[in-house]
Amino acid sequence: MERLLVISALFLSLPILTLSDFLVPGIRNIQRRSPQDPSDDLEIYSVNIQSQITSRFAHNVITSRAVNRADRSQEVSFDVDLPKTAFITNFTMVIDGVTYPGVIKEKEAAKKQYEKAVSRGQSAGLVRASGRKTEKFTVSVNVASQSKVTFELIYEEMLKRNLGKYEMFIKVRPKKLVQSFQIEVDINEPQGISFLEAQGTFMTNDLLPLLHKSFSGEKGHVSFKPTFDQQRSCSNCSTTQLDGDFTVTYDVNRETPGNIQVVNGYFVHFFAPSKLKKVPKNIVFIIDRSISMIGLKMQQTKEALLKILEDVKEHDHFNFVIFDWGVEIWEESLVKATPENLSRAKEYVRNLYPKGWTNINDALLSAISLLDKVHSAGSVPKRSASLIIFMTDGQPSTGERDPAKIQENARKAINDKYSLYSLGFGTGVDYPFLEKLSLENSGVARRIYEESDAALQMEGFYDEVANPTLMDIELQYPENSISDVTQNKFKHYFDGSEIVVAGRITDNDLNWLTADVTAEGETDTLKYSENIKVHEEPDAVKQQQYIFGDFTERLWAYLTIQQLLEKRISAPASEKQNLTAKALELSLKYQFVTPLTSMVVTKPEEEKGEEETMIADKFVEGQESQAQSTYTASRTWSSYSAPRYSHRPTSFVDSDPHFIIQVPEKKDALCFNIQETPGVVLNIVSDPELGIAVNGELIGKKESGNVTSNETFFGKMGIVSTKLDLRIEVTTEAVTVLNGAKKMALSWQQDVTVTDDGLTLLVNKKKNLLLSMGDGATFIILLHKFSKNDPLHRDFLGFYTMDNHKFSERVHGLLGQFYHGVDYDISNIHKTADPQKPDATMRVKDSLLTVTRGSQRDYSKDPRSGSKVQCWFVHNNGEGLIDGVHADYIVPDLFSGVSTE
Ligand SMILES: *[C@@H]1O[C@H](CO)[C@@H](O)[C@H](O)[C@H]1NC(C)=O
Ligand SMILES: *[C@@H]1O[C@H](CO)[C@@H](O)[C@H](O)[C@H]1NC(C)=O
Ligand SMILES: *[C@@H]1O[C@H](CO)[C@@H](O)[C@H](O)[C@H]1NC(C)=O
Ligand SMILES: *[C@@H]1O[C@H](CO)[C@@H](O)[C@H](O)[C@H]1NC(C)=O
Ligand SMILES: *[C@@H]1O[C@H](CO)[C@@H](O)[C@H](O)[C@H]1NC(C)=O
Ligand SMILES: *[C@@H]1O[C@H](CO)[C@@H](O)[C@H](O)[C@H]1NC(C)=O
Repeated sequence: MERLLVISALFLSLPILTLSDFLVPGIRNIQRRSPQDPSDDLEIYSVNIQSQITSRFAHNVITSRAVNRADRSQEVSFDVDLPKTAFITNFTMVIDGVTYPGVIKEKEAAKKQYEKAVSRGQSAGLVRASGRKTEKFTVSVNVASQSKVTFELIYEEMLKRNLGKYEMFIKVRPKKLVQSFQIEVDINEPQGISFLEAQGTFMTNDLLPLLHKSFSGEKGHVSFKPTFDQQRSCSNCSTTQLDGDFTVTYDVNRETPGNIQVVNGYFVHFFAPSKLKKVPKNIVFIIDRSISMIGLKMQQTKEALLKILEDVKEHDHFNFVIFDWGVEIWEESLVKATPENLSRAKEYVRNLYPKGWTNINDALLSAISLLDKVHSAGSVPKRSASLIIFMTDGQPSTGERDPAKIQENARKAINDKYSLYSLGFGTGVDYPFLEKLSLENSGVARRIYEESDAALQMEGFYDEVANPTLMDIELQYPENSISDVTQNKFKHYFDGSEIVVAGRITDNDLNWLTADVTAEGETDTLKYSENIKVHEEPDAVKQQQYIFGDFTERLWAYLTIQQLLEKRISAPASEKQNLTAKALELSLKYQFVTPLTSMVVTKPEEEKGEEETMIADKFVEGQESQAQSTYTASRTWSSYSAPRYSHRPTSFVDSDPHFIIQVPEKKDALCFNIQETPGVVLNIVSDPELGIAVNGELIGKKESGNVTSNETFFGKMGIVSTKLDLRIEVTTEAVTVLNGAKKMALSWQQDVTVTDDGLTLLVNKKKNLLLSMGDGATFIILLHKFSKNDPLHRDFLGFYTMDNHKFSERVHGLLGQFYHGVDYDISNIHKTADPQKPDATMRVKDSLLTVTRGSQRDYSKDPRSGSKVQCWFVHNNGEGLIDGVHADYIVPDLFSGVSTE
């Protein structure tokens, strides 16, 4: 249900240059290009973005023209970010007057051609990457000296109405000044346009007058054509200020609830009745509070829920089903959204904390049975819409864990009575599982990207389903005169959205097409009827041809393919083949690059006398995790016991001890090393108020032959909680828990779970240990294992802070002192001998330090190779960044630290 309409991002560049460019991840391009920059040899003389929208159907043509002024050939690439909901329909390259067309083929055939080319040793490009709303189309070709190249990409899609408007954005990024740059959007809406807006995130007061927008009756027009000089970021700069999103939003008049368009034997019916009373809702929120929600994700979920509760209407009923190992239901039954009940609900939400694993099956069944109960008891309004909103960041890890079985259980229990919406949070989620789960139960799944605006994403989703005005909508057409109708029954209609149905007229003699709509409203059954003359007057036909004649047919094909692909997700295997065949046939007939087709572009390589084959595929949401979900299903319980940590630690220390402090406000990190001798114990965290301390003891590398190393690692860790009367010693061999006089020895060889008053300790066999001491204090200790015969390495430990929000203002220690954030500024970034490692000046705690760009590895997600974290490295054992000097953090033994503060 990606309702935003996005158009495209685009730039033309030299990839070779991007590499030699002095770029530091996370920082802007910090060095201006020199005048001899070879990119000046590539002149982009035209970028043209044309969008034609007819009755919500958008046809976009992006053309870019360049000339290679260099005295040698060079690689030129063309990038477009297009909406995930769009289908590419054509791409052509013209090099030196010779046209190389893209050919759309069945995916398998294209793949074979591609593999054949690769096996012949020919170079080949591949196009597929994705962002939040967009996917990337990239082509790179070698262009001879003094040659011209033109790229033209065409894609189409239907704009979906959301919250009362159609919206599209064009991500503009030409990267260079362009002689002729223009964006032109033409809208033709037979119902008449009611408003039209356009804006760009890069608009300045100087650019604003260049943005023209107008609308009148059926026509709307937006254009933006800055001249070469107007594109400059300052009057004598050679850089462009065009970099950002260009958005066009509009809506049409709603004088009638529906509107039918007929052209060339195909019809499209738009249905969006306005000013209807809202139907009361019964909502059950299912919230995942498994351990992987720890930290920001839980905080954002709570924030979103609190905001959503503000918007719940008094006639609505609601409840919460919270799940981890088991299921906790807030109130026995659904609760009316009175001010008192809402304030109790908020209190409850504020007190939610993560723990345990992911029992999805029981959570779903509990929510369904709650709705069943209130309906049979008649304790909710008879005419009301029942929705389940299911939020998770994981995969089933306890209870029923077979995804197919869970889907079957949910489908049977819901039995078409309720809609189930799924919000998949972060990257660890099994999205295809959620998608199928929702599609089978009149809902949709939506991804929540793990970023700072996650709460807004969840609220935005809620807004879309917050106002149902109709239920059980059915749109009917004269059976004998039409065929191939797209989905015509809908569970709910939400205010501000739109129902679209398309079909083919088979009766050549049909004069009038009638649509009958029945739906359940807030108080009674509503009926609507729509009529349209099928054979238009010649003038009107001409007018529509002027726009583009076959848009109803293409819109029908687009909708039909989308729905076949969706149906395929939940269809039994026997029907899947049939649905696939039909969707493939239509994709080929109408030339759409869909998940079943690919586009192949072949260009001769003059120099080598060879061909170059490139292939463009459609990005498929969650395709990677598809494999993952099959994998999970076949795993056994014992090997699949660990919750997934798909979020980032706030700070951690690992390897030769590298301390890393994440600074989310700056989307960056700081790091430092501590050089000490084996045997020394360092304090990592100490909080005298919470009574918690964490210390680590250093070990060295093995002494092998004549190789000696002064690198050290943490070989032992001690954790103390005075409040829980607890001491935990973690070594690379074992975990020992001392609780008062009790002693418990655990090994790394087994999965173990210990839960006690306020303590959760999970040992994930040979991998890691998760320790949660009360809410808001959670750590993971990673075990790095080496072969016994490794000449150099001993096993060692890494320490990751997963949640620290509980710690007091007095928390200290090498990591602890940063738990409440750290403020710093970076300036004067300058090159050093190593281009990857520029130096800079950092102002922190009133001192000025010279720091160096570097990277460290975070092994919390991928224990084998880790993932790189870019950071500013503070030299001399963190001096100037840490309070005092590093020797201040040396403590006498593993269990000291709390009382001495
Ligand atoms: C693709 O676009 C090119 C250039 O506009 C055009 O010549 C060609 O006919 C188009 N191909 C199809 C299949 O529409
Ligand atoms: C622009 O150029 C003028 C004259 O060459 C120079 O004095 C001025 O500082 C420049 N401005 C900027 C912002 O570079
Ligand atoms: C909710 O609030 C109303 C009035 O504030 C109260 O009468 C009712 O019992 C509460 N609980 C439920 C379950 O509706
Ligand atoms: C799909 O199945 C139906 C009958 O179930 C059949 O009539 C139709 O021809 C099949 N379509 C394809 C493309 O195989
Ligand atoms: C010791 O060092 C020398 C030279 O650095 C090297 O050639 C030799 O292989 C080393 N011996 C061992 C046992 O590693
Ligand atoms: C550790 O060894 C490296 C390389 O042998 C050396 O450059 C560095 O100064 C040593 N550090 C300490 C603290 O001894």
